[in-house]
Amino acid sequence: MGNHSQVTVASCLKVLVCLCIFVQSLVNGQDIDPLVNVTYIKGGVAKGAVCLDGSPGAYYFGQGFEDGIDNWIVYLPGGAWCYSEENCLSRSKYNNNTGTTKYAAPKSFTTFLSQNRIINPDFYNWNRVLIRYCDGASFMADVEAVDPVTKLYRRGRRIFASVLEELITTKAMGNAANALLIGDSAGGLATILNCDRFHSFLPDACRVKCVSDAGFFIRGKDLPGAFDHAMDYFSEVVKYHKLAEYLPKSCTQRLAPELCFFPENVVNDIKTPLFLLNSDFDTYQIYILVAPNSPTDEGWNCTKTFASLVNCTPDQLHVIMDFRTAFLKTLQGLDDNPSRGLFITSCYIHSISGYPHNWQGSPTLQNKTVQQAIGDWYFERNIVQFIDYQHRHPIYCNGI
Ligand SMILES: *[C@@H]1O[C@H](CO)[C@@H](O)[C@H](O)[C@H]1NC(C)=O
Ligand SMILES: *[C@@H]1O[C@H](CO)[C@@H](O)[C@H](O)[C@H]1NC(C)=O
Ligand SMILES: *[C@@H]1O[C@H](CO)[C@@H](O)[C@H](O)[C@H]1NC(C)=O
Ligand SMILES: *[C@@H]1O[C@H](CO)[C@@H](O)[C@H](O)[C@H]1NC(C)=O
Repeated sequence: MGNHSQVTVASCLKVLVCLCIFVQSLVNGQDIDPLVNVTYIKGGVAKGAVCLDGSPGAYYFGQGFEDGIDNWIVYLPGGAWCYSEENCLSRSKYNNNTGTTKYAAPKSFTTFLSQNRIINPDFYNWNRVLIRYCDGASFMADVEAVDPVTKLYRRGRRIFASVLEELITTKAMGNAANALLIGDSAGGLATILNCDRFHSFLPDACRVKCVSDAGFFIRGKDLPGAFDHAMDYFSEVVKYHKLAEYLPKSCTQRLAPELCFFPENVVNDIKTPLFLLNSDFDTYQIYILVAPNSPTDEGWNCTKTFASLVNCTPDQLHVIMDFRTAFLKTLQGLDDNPSRGLFITSCYIHSISGYPHNWQGSPTLQNKTVQQAIGDWYFERNIVQFIDYQHRHPIYCNGI
């Protein structure tokens, strides 16, 4: 990997030139996000850059314009993980969104990919890419052998690489001045795990950074009883997708591979600037990973939404508070890093960029919305390390 602190003069000059036509772009912000057609990776099947079911990896591309033409934002969507032959087979057959690209309908960009300047003030005119999530393992697996029983493929890493290579060859992404890798949930974890790798595709870019939205899944080993589920889930994902060899070596040489799927054990070693956007009352972590969530045990379904919290018992509310304590403690256990951005809200939500209604009802910290805070951090207008210490209970922030 190249030296990331070395900035090429040429690409930074480009940014200066771009600033000159900035004023012009203010006049032209476009309002409506059109439908974007899917693009299948060229020769995807031949290259083996395929989804679980063998359909080719795919992405959506929106052309940059005005002063955004040399800037790139790449989004990795969420969709949890699959963890066994049976579970991955079912995803490949019955989940049109995360198991296959066979039925990839046109889609309209939202939040950080919107071309509407009001919705997305800092990135609206960049080249915008959304890579389909269809591998079930946060774009981390690359198993050569096809599963002999199910005929499933585990090739997310190859999809990620092939999309970037294709954009570099066909759309001059290699000339990027600014680039941002961002994703939510399983895609937020993918963003953390693939952040330096993303940077390595763009050695000449002026500024490369990563934003993980709702991707900071904690191990929570001090949270009594609760987190065995997260640990079991991640262990099975790591094992089924044979991720051990691709997880960061700096982690796997001291810890078991499944522990290296938890951001807290890898974030310190990431060289590219990283922003962690998360709720310290992350509903997914609380509802799916902390609370025993089997179909036969509905005792914890009060944790599903903010509105249902009123049905929780005092003991259950205690566990929710303990989650926040464990979350903040885990975050505080990371090395101090001035290039890191933080926006830790106490809204009772999971991702923000994955859901337009959470984006519209964006929480504010230090009087900044998520959009503003991330723009400030990306362009180094301000240090952004915001944590909501004020709300010790979950707060309501949106329309769900
Ligand atoms: C998307 O594909 C449809 C069907 O092939 C085509 O009619 C339409 O023009 C395409 N849209 C764009 C924006 O390329
Ligand atoms: C997937 O999409 C196809 C085409 O739209 C549809 O026929 C099929 O029922 C869908 N499958 C599921 C499980 O939704
Ligand atoms: C939770 O489960 C209980 C018991 O089965 C049920 O009565 C209640 O409607 C459920 N609540 C939610 C929010 O799903
Ligand atoms: C927050 O921002 C709004 C709108 O820009 C402004 O009117 C208000 O005074 C600010 N509040 C604080 C506490 O800075």
